[in-house]
Amino acid sequence: MEITFGGLRVPDSGTVVAGVLEGKKLAPSAAELNRRGGGVLVRAIEATRFTGKKEEALVVPAPNGLAYDRVVLLGMGKPAELSALALQRLGGVLVPALNSVGATAATVLWDKMPGMRLDPGVGAANLAHGAVLRSYRFDKYRTRQKPEQKPSLEKLMVLSPSQASARRAYQPLERIAAGVFFTRDLVSEPANILYPESFAERAKALSQLGIAVEVLDEKAMKKLGMGALLGVGQGSAKPPRLLVMQYNGAGRARGKAPIAFIGKGVTFDTGGISLKPAAGMEEMKWDMAGAGVVVGLMMALAGRKARANVVGIAGLVENMPDGNAQRPGDIVTTMSGQTVEVLNTDAEGRLVLADALWYCQDRFKPQFMIDLATLTGAIVVALGHEHAGLFSNNDQLANRLLTAGKAVEEPLWRMPLADVYDRQIDSDAADVKNIGGGRDAGSITAAQFLQRFVNKVPWAHLDIAGVAWSKKDAPLTPKGGTAYGVRLLNALVEAHYEGR
Ligand code: BES
Ligand code: MN
Ligand code: ZN
Repeated sequence: MEITFGGLRVPDSGTVVAGVLEGKKLAPSAAELNRRGGGVLVRAIEATRFTGKKEEALVVPAPNGLAYDRVVLLGMGKPAELSALALQRLGGVLVPALNSVGATAATVLWDKMPGMRLDPGVGAANLAHGAVLRSYRFDKYRTRQKPEQKPSLEKLMVLSPSQASARRAYQPLERIAAGVFFTRDLVSEPANILYPESFAERAKALSQLGIAVEVLDEKAMKKLGMGALLGVGQGSAKPPRLLVMQYNGAGRARGKAPIAFIGKGVTFDTGGISLKPAAGMEEMKWDMAGAGVVVGLMMALAGRKARANVVGIAGLVENMPDGNAQRPGDIVTTMSGQTVEVLNTDAEGRLVLADALWYCQDRFKPQFMIDLATLTGAIVVALGHEHAGLFSNNDQLANRLLTAGKAVEEPLWRMPLADVYDRQIDSDAADVKNIGGGRDAGSITAAQFLQRFVNKVPWAHLDIAGVAWSKKDAPLTPKGGTAYGVRLLNALVEAHYEGR
């Protein structure tokens, strides 16, 4: 979608969008349109249940006395509650309203109003950002769609009293959306197209943004002793890869220790020899969402020139059953030197991350490590699709993450780590086993496993199994891959790690 900004003036034709506050109070531009139309908009409101509550939208087609194709009245709620996020959501709900009537372009009139704390230009930028986030589509494989089956909206112009500030505020938001889209593309691709090598190949495009991209192959990983990651991949015809991305944006603080993000990139998870049931297995194409988020995050940070040194790592493997696949009971040696008894080959994500985490702290000595993984079905049982699970050995890092999650509406819920859980993954045959005793506390025992591969580094683990993919539309996320984590971690970096 093409976004443009301009100064506030009432357009002559086309589709116009204007705001209405809670209690049917027209914003100045809406009032002006209503006056020019001899009261037609107020009559339209009275003929419906529209009240101006936040995120309501009323499309008035060809309003009598006005030259517009449509006037869309957008419920703004209370002016004092119009935060950047609230504006993004308004932009998000506007998109389906415009598509539902086949509008190809629209002009939004964004006024400054008493009680509104957000600068109107910043508001305009955030409204546009929300509209862009909602407009994402993954339809490259739908070759027979008729025009009426596709979304109509192509252009959105947002007019406000401070267009310069709108343009300035929009610059980083545009780059964040590009990162989100890159992640959503990766997550949506099927596993015959996206496998470790092709995933790594796509990530190489990031070098255009000044990111150094390295790809470790099997031989390099063998040399490093990554027996856990390699064990997961050994049943697949597609060889594994370790993707290492570095972006040094800290400027004068160039030598500063980086912050690090590590993603689970299982491009398809059949469960391996501990095979998953057939029903729903297709969902396991998005078992690489953690890695997808790390790539999109790197793209967003480098794109907006974040003043931070950042490392992104993705452990890329396909988990398949095969004559060469790893068996339940196999014992593998990790890069850390610890041995793991693999009692269930479907608990593979933690094996991949064990080596990726160890490699990260060993090579980069980061300020912190945050990993993202669609790690356990148990986190979906615990938190549903409304929160991702947060586990951390550091309260400051955890609290910063919780705050960032709230700010961008990618919320987290902190879960416990404790010795009593850790004991449940002691193995009789090796140093550690890759599952707990039973199904109890499955997300926690998984996190305890990861923690065995983290030394004293501040670390957080985000279990995103319940939030990486959505079956229904939300204001900022059409159904499908969500890229949950990109906006959250971008907000974390912006708030605390850009050393201005
Ligand atoms: N990728 C799955 C977790 C998952 C399940 C993600 C459902 C999204 C939706 C992971 O590799 C897995 O299979 N975990 C097992 C662990 C068990 C064997 C201890 C699980 O959650 O059942
Ligand atoms: Mn699995
Ligand atoms: Zn998995």
